[in-house]
Amino acid sequence: MASFETIIYEEKEEIAIITLNRPERLNALSLKLLEELNGVVDEIDSRDDLKVVVITGGRKVFCAGADINLFSGLTKVEEAYRFIEWIKYSLGSLSRLCKPTIAAICGYALGGGLELCMHCDIRIASDNAKLGLPEINLGAFPGAGGTQILPRLIGSSRAKEMLFGGDPIDAQEAFRIGLVNKVFPKEKVLEEAMNMARAWAKKPPYAVRTIKRLVDNGLQMDLVHALKHESSSFLGIWASHDFKEGTSAFLEKRKADFKGE
Ligand code: CAA
Repeated sequence: MASFETIIYEEKEEIAIITLNRPERLNALSLKLLEELNGVVDEIDSRDDLKVVVITGGRKVFCAGADINLFSGLTKVEEAYRFIEWIKYSLGSLSRLCKPTIAAICGYALGGGLELCMHCDIRIASDNAKLGLPEINLGAFPGAGGTQILPRLIGSSRAKEMLFGGDPIDAQEAFRIGLVNKVFPKEKVLEEAMNMARAWAKKPPYAVRTIKRLVDNGLQMDLVHALKHESSSFLGIWASHDFKEGTSAFLEKRKADFKGE
């Protein structure tokens, strides 16, 4: 894998770890960072040996949003449209990945930084984390999925409260409303994210991929079609090596040897 200017990329066991790395700008999302993030996610997607992705900003700050300097460079309407589509596409690369993604959040996750977390499957936060969408204070709104994904995660009423007010919420409140899955002391956040990632990396990958696709696609469908979609997907599982292996291993009282097929 290439080296990067704005992120640090590591692999531990079967886990890909992406660390945002613009500390002087509180990891604000520059065009370079978005390009590097997009590229690394594409590469991870093509690697069957990598099973789970953890994304973090380190122990001090997750990300303070889009780099506000970028907005002064947008002088034409087409540029503004291209920019918002590009940031949405880049952050969305995480939700398009067929592997589980975990955001390990310490400190601020604001604006585009929180949107990045929302494009992940799971969010784990430090007890000093602050999560918010302050774009209203810039006369704008979070346009990289914030107005659409947040209501789907926490309901429209709570989402509007965060969007209209712009004030960050703390980790306990984020946990209470279901925006983060777990809260830990900041020294433990990455370790706990890695524990979760390690456990999921051992699960049969074909079933994991199918679950992610079913949940995400099913949420875009009406329930009747979503349930049909679930039944057709079961046929793929039924025909898979892993399902035969998993059921045989149970009956034979041995450990299953999953192959992701
Ligand atoms: N863009 C560019 N630079 C940023 C930045 C951002 N989003 N956030 C922080 N920085 C810079 C600061 O300008 C500062 O730079 P200098 O040292 O050169 O002055 C440096 O990072 C450190 O920041 P602060 O001194 O402000 O640190 P603080 O601890 O006092 O405050 C903060 C932290 C509350 C997060 C504050 O920096 C802040 O409010 N940042 C902006 C947050 C924001 O509005 N985010 C939304 C961006 S728009 C967006 O994300 C749109 C979208 O959805 C697509």
